[in-house]
Amino acid sequence: MKRIFVEETINKIGEKVKVSGWVNVRRDHGKIIFIDLRDRTGLLQGVFAGDIVKKADQLRSEWVVSIEGKIKERPKNLKNPKIETGAVELEAEELEILNEAKTPPFEIGAKDEINEEIRMEYRYLDLRSPKMQKSLIKRSEVLRFLNDYLKDQKFVEIETPALTKGTPEGAREFVVPSRKHPGKFYVLPQSPQQFKQLLMVAGFERYFQIARCFRDEDSRGDRQPEFTQLDVEMSFVEENDVMSLIEETMIKLVKNIFPEKNIFNEPFPKLDYDEAMEKYKTDKPDLRKDKDNPDELAFAWIINMPLFEYSKTEKKLVSSHHPFTSPATTNINQPEKLKAKAYDLVLNGYEIGGGSIRIHQRELQNKIFEILGLKEAEIEARFGHMLKAFEYGAPPHGGIALGLDRLLMILMNEPSIREVIAFPKTGDDRDLMIGAPSDISENQLKEIHIKCIK
Ligand code: AMO
Repeated sequence: MKRIFVEETINKIGEKVKVSGWVNVRRDHGKIIFIDLRDRTGLLQGVFAGDIVKKADQLRSEWVVSIEGKIKERPKNLKNPKIETGAVELEAEELEILNEAKTPPFEIGAKDEINEEIRMEYRYLDLRSPKMQKSLIKRSEVLRFLNDYLKDQKFVEIETPALTKGTPEGAREFVVPSRKHPGKFYVLPQSPQQFKQLLMVAGFERYFQIARCFRDEDSRGDRQPEFTQLDVEMSFVEENDVMSLIEETMIKLVKNIFPEKNIFNEPFPKLDYDEAMEKYKTDKPDLRKDKDNPDELAFAWIINMPLFEYSKTEKKLVSSHHPFTSPATTNINQPEKLKAKAYDLVLNGYEIGGGSIRIHQRELQNKIFEILGLKEAEIEARFGHMLKAFEYGAPPHGGIALGLDRLLMILMNEPSIREVIAFPKTGDDRDLMIGAPSDISENQLKEIHIKCIK
């Protein structure tokens, strides 16, 4: 018999079915045993009476079973409106025990707070909870929506490499030693920035990617060492084209996938960076009217940011966004006064995205590198490929990247992006479940030409 999902049983009254899943709870009523069977789609009450009780009596929480039997409508007074299948129950005829389970270190879906380290160590059990299931299923729906929406508008989804050379987004990079090239290293991308620009030179005009990014910075609630961006780049556009696209995408996403939410300021207000800093003392103001209302969403654009800022550690200018961002004017004699053709998207006090119109001419790009204090040889070594590409008909282009984890965290009212990521890292960047980072063998180290200083 083909197994069906628990949610399908509502339409199967009077029919014989087979369901499979985990024992959520078992209740003994003397000669009758009830179990709540859980699968991905919900709970179903199974009733065991007669000969089968003996076998059902062995069952414990989280055992894996298949049950065949007849779906019956429950008497009116015994219907349970709290569960999707509360109007029916399964009269068990056959029970197959597929696997036993140890008592889990915490109750699955417990209302009380579970120790964070234990949750992380047993993430596969933590993910069994209805809350985490809902979170990841919702995430998948959001990804699907974004994918469909952008493809409908002629965006091409293109994957870019994970083994690459540094991209200057301002964070530390994760480094990967090369076995075949002793003493040389790949770097994991902080974002696909340079590749997406090169795809514009290649003539794709509209690119997007659900891109994994890596940054070796200190983690916190809204920051992980690896995270996901909705990465977008377009040719022949100005700031407003990119902002309109993203604004429409956000409005449609909320309407379709989070209909309970209200966007209270449409169109999204555009705040001058200086104005925001003066009025709100932050470049990511929380513009909600009622901060206690979990369904209120207040988006805003921050524009006219400075192109450069002074480094916090050295006396030199650094890019506020990244060095590929176009200045607002071509007269760049007073760099510290320059504004950028850049825009940040802010939601409820979080920066959920940032982007800019890019430089697409070699000469200007070179000047920006010089202002950043890079010497000719260094410019050539680090960014020669970009400058070279700009000489072969690079179109004007611009784009943006949204921090998908952050966006989802806010849309799902979660306090941390860990709640919307299947296998996140702890605050100190460890994976407690698989035990990463970990030692590697002397042999392996030798092969990649690395000596460790303990
Ligand atoms: P930026 O560095 O501003 O821009 O990153 C874009 C967005 O990514 C999210 N984000 C993070 N989310 C979780 N954990 C992190 N460690 C983390 N770091 C950043 C934020 C941020 O707004 N290449 C450019 C984009 C462009 O110019 O098109 C870039 O990466 O929500």
